[in-house]
Amino acid sequence: MCESYNKLFENNQRWVQNRIDKNPDFFNDLAERQSPQFLWIGCSDSRVPANEITGTMPGDIFVHRNIANMVIHTDISMLSVLDYAVNVLHVKHIIVCGHYGCGGVATAMGNKQVGLIDNWLRHIKDVYRLHKDELNAIEDVAKRSDRLVELNVLEQVHDLTKTSIVQNAWSNGDSLHVHGLVYDIKNGYLQDLNITVGDNEDIEAVYKLDALEHAIS
Ligand code: CO
Repeated sequence: MCESYNKLFENNQRWVQNRIDKNPDFFNDLAERQSPQFLWIGCSDSRVPANEITGTMPGDIFVHRNIANMVIHTDISMLSVLDYAVNVLHVKHIIVCGHYGCGGVATAMGNKQVGLIDNWLRHIKDVYRLHKDELNAIEDVAKRSDRLVELNVLEQVHDLTKTSIVQNAWSNGDSLHVHGLVYDIKNGYLQDLNITVGDNEDIEAVYKLDALEHAIS
């Protein structure tokens, strides 16, 4: 087997030993339960690992990652993660984290066909179209791409607030905040985009959902 693959297991054994040295009950405690406060929706990019860049531990963050940190309302995987995080784990914060230099976003800005992924990236092209006046005014391509990264995060935050899952949590009086962040792979810093939403006040009227009325049998 190749060396880099074997290394994973060597590293793992060292990591386990390290954890146990620091806290002999580390794995016993984690095996009992998880009660993370955060749901992280991030990019699959290998350079943006949720726990590592936030200095958090196993058990702290429930994670969903896909290409370009998208919240697509027909994505059953994302919806299942969201539902479980909000309704079972009762997370207090949902974080959408984009990152500068995102290959998915850069590709979506161009016209080259890449393959199957074009269908996924179409959603980012929709974000571009929504903000095309602002984006087209930015001449530098890298800067335009970085701005699209931020605007894409903004739209994914909005898309989360359009889900019945998030809106029902709010009508039940749960404390749940949806945040938009951007990570800079060039310097490692995480930045809050100050677009946090904690209630349905700012949701456009057409997306607001009344609480579900349960039939009485
Ligand atoms: Co990316």
